[in-house]
Amino acid sequence: MKIAVTGKGGVGKTTLASTLSSIFSRKYKVFAIDADPDMNLASSLGIREEIIPISKMKDLIKDRTGAEPGSSFGEIFKINPKISDLPDSLSIDYDPEGRLKLLVMGTVDKGGDGCICPASVLLKAMLRHMILKKDEIIILDMEAGIEHLGRKTAESVDIMIVVVEPGLKSLETARRIKKLAKDIGIKNLQAVINKVSSAAEEEFVQEKLKELKIEVLGSIPQDQSVVRADMEAKPLTAYDNSPASMAIETIAENILKKI
Ligand SMILES: Nc1ncnc2c1ncn2[C@@H]1O[C@H](COP(=O)(O)OP(=O)(O)OP(=O)(O)O)[C@@H](O)[C@H]1O
Ligand SMILES: [Mg+2]
Repeated sequence: MKIAVTGKGGVGKTTLASTLSSIFSRKYKVFAIDADPDMNLASSLGIREEIIPISKMKDLIKDRTGAEPGSSFGEIFKINPKISDLPDSLSIDYDPEGRLKLLVMGTVDKGGDGCICPASVLLKAMLRHMILKKDEIIILDMEAGIEHLGRKTAESVDIMIVVVEPGLKSLETARRIKKLAKDIGIKNLQAVINKVSSAAEEEFVQEKLKELKIEVLGSIPQDQSVVRADMEAKPLTAYDNSPASMAIETIAENILKKI
């Protein structure tokens, strides 16, 4: 099962992705992948140490692609680097049983449209490999720009979740993502409504999503535990009776029903 979480900045993508990762890892093997330029999936899982993203591993990139990262124009490098061993060797074991692994991809400076640079070739190849070949549950925390997924990878994503909050801005992003998702071949786009603090807010967003023809997987209330978890660098699942955590448990069940 391959799940991608996307949406406008700050809506709660990382909160959802990390909590789903913890929940699913009780029963299944999970690979959580941080593919957001603003990398914070690790801290949201309660990992405090600093992690070097793969995009910054210069020697590795040089070794696998044959080119120095950063050098691009006119340079010859392998566009099909060997990467099948990397997800396992570069991931961080989150739990002693090895049921939850984390990979921090990092980002590549884009040198204008259509730039192909060694680091991005490596990251894309890894993402494609994981989504196409791995048996584990893959949970991808990503930015709103989903174009770089590539058609083959996109077609193998079982469910793309767009997180929205009460407000038109994140709904506008959802509208854009819906169009993009269709263009690149994502079959199943579902919404999660986050930071809901009243029935009126919930109704407002539900209505708008209906207009956009985006199905709703569930909603998550505004919850102080999410803020506390962030301050204390702990996973949300560590807070018993957290309404947001309980809502995400329900969303996890709904995901299993949808795919
Ligand atoms: N249900 C909630 N209740 C209260 N606060 C929340 C809730 N969900 C998210 N937040 C807060 O909103 C902020 C953004 O959440 P999060 O980092 O999960 O969003 P994001 O979409 O991953 O952001 P970014 O685009 O920066 O990666 C955090 O400070 C988080 O604590
Ligand atoms: Mg985030």
